[in-house]
Amino acid sequence: MSRLFSMSGKVVLVTGAGANGGIGHALALGFAEAEAQLVVADIDAEGLDQTLRQLQACGTKARALPCDISDGEQVAALFASVAAEEGRLDVLVNVPFAFPSRVKPHQLAFEDWQRTLDVSLSGYFRCCQQALALMLAQGGGSIINIGSNAGVSALGRGAMPYACAKAAVHQLTRELAVEYAGQGIRCNALLPAQVLTPGLKAHLNDPDFQQRVLPAILKGLPQGKLLEPEDLVGPALFLASDAARAVNGALLPVDQGNTALNAGGSHNWTGPQ
Ligand SMILES: NC(=O)c1ccc[n+]([C@@H]2O[C@H](COP(=O)([O-])OP(=O)(O)OC[C@H]3O[C@@H](n4cnc5c(N)ncnc54)[C@H](O)[C@@H]3O)[C@@H](O)[C@H]2O)c1
Repeated sequence: MSRLFSMSGKVVLVTGAGANGGIGHALALGFAEAEAQLVVADIDAEGLDQTLRQLQACGTKARALPCDISDGEQVAALFASVAAEEGRLDVLVNVPFAFPSRVKPHQLAFEDWQRTLDVSLSGYFRCCQQALALMLAQGGGSIINIGSNAGVSALGRGAMPYACAKAAVHQLTRELAVEYAGQGIRCNALLPAQVLTPGLKAHLNDPDFQQRVLPAILKGLPQGKLLEPEDLVGPALFLASDAARAVNGALLPVDQGNTALNAGGSHNWTGPQ
């Protein structure tokens, strides 16, 4: 049974894995605990270095490579380094995102729209393309994209460009799943609801967030609390493992039932601003 779920000897690249208490950070530590060999990447070189030290302290074979996934040259260099040093890539996990300041769509600066898509969608495509080249050459692999309940139903609250990027990530996942199923490559996505990450923690002392937004979010989370970054680890390990060998093109909610309730567009609604 344990062989089905084993990550031992697998090379896993997690982008957005800087040590800031976010999902990528938790996933890197989770894959390390499952005995994978890690390559971690992030735009934040300092946070990345911290993650690397944590991984090494657990005895994990790991390397850290700073990379901005919105920059094609940096992404190409990242994967060239993996090809040269690790010699293979079994699992790619795409985590980073950009979120512009929350404004109404008619007030959104085009550069903010573009930057959001460039990181949150095109960045994933750049990394997928590079990973696919390696995975095709070695005869298989697994790609996991981090989507969002924001890409399933509308959130409002100035989330439009982010939500559009996430919806497109879901479709990117499905298209890649179908295009490469015959070559042993699987592509799946995890769709979290609201997770207690640094981005969300930053709002916890804001009275408007406390009084209006947080109760609305919690009403949409059937287990009655925000998710933790670690809640994503088990589902990611499953999708990456041979246990999920026939799971392809899945958009797996990790949301306590939020999607089942369709709360993204209903119970999370905080009224017009
Ligand atoms: N936090 C939530 O409530 C929530 C809900 C649903 C989905 N998600 C998704 O989960 C993922 C992780 O979210 P999080 O809240 O843990 O984020 P986070 O900000 O905690 O971590 C994201 C990491 O990506 C890095 N990063 C940002 N831009 C980058 C770039 N251009 N190139 C490389 N690295 C870059 C950051 O430095 C950071 O370390 C995102 O895709 C997000 O959309 C989060």
